[in-house]
Amino acid sequence: MEFADVVFRRRMVRNYDPDRPVPPEVLDRLLEYAVHAPSAGFSQGWGFLVLTDPADRERFWRATTSAEDDEEPDQWLTGLRKAPALVIPMSNKHTYIERYAAPDKGWTDRDESRWPVPFWDIDTGFAAMLMMLGAVDEGLDTCFFGIPPEATATFRATFDVPDEYTPIGVLSIGYRAPDLRSPSLKRGRRSVSEVARHGQWSRTQG
Ligand SMILES: Cc1cc2nc3c(=O)[nH]c(=O)nc-3n(C[C@H](O)[C@H](O)[C@H](O)COP(=O)(O)O)c2cc1C
Repeated sequence: MEFADVVFRRRMVRNYDPDRPVPPEVLDRLLEYAVHAPSAGFSQGWGFLVLTDPADRERFWRATTSAEDDEEPDQWLTGLRKAPALVIPMSNKHTYIERYAAPDKGWTDRDESRWPVPFWDIDTGFAAMLMMLGAVDEGLDTCFFGIPPEATATFRATFDVPDEYTPIGVLSIGYRAPDLRSPSLKRGRRSVSEVARHGQWSRTQG
């Protein structure tokens, strides 16, 4: 697929065909794309928990949703739960702090205020984006969504994830079924002319 088609076709899909698993070789390719993402200092402080087994996916949903959701799942949850694959990209700040304390970087004080923004989350997000675009190229769709903060500890305990890994979100992956459009889309896409400035930010210089 042409790169522009991949970019413009990608959208978050929240309902999947539960009977069409993601072929393992496709999932492997998506993970290969993920590890080709750029990373600050080539730190690669990321990890990806891959859940395809129905029992593992069920454990994920139990760990991250409430009992009330089980009793009365909304359309959003019902559709997402059908995704045959979930990948949880996780960032590891510790890897970055240690990488930048190495002699070629020299931040031996390990002072977190040196970091302009959390590069560990950014890089893991880049990796997730490559998986999202790769999925479209493979004829699949994805949705990126968050794990509620109050569920993170349960998520870690359920899957034995060490404290130094922070899930930045979840990617559901699968073949699209008739989908719910997000109400957020009513906001409309902001145009390039609205968000990009050339040469100078303020237009009322002077
Ligand atoms: C960081 C991030 C978090 C998101 N969290 C959710 C979420 O929790 N639930 C959801 O349905 N969509 C979530 N989305 C999807 C956005 O709603 C979606 O990207 C946006 O409405 C634009 O639609 P499109 O991606 O289909 O073009 C998230 C997207 C991003 C980038």
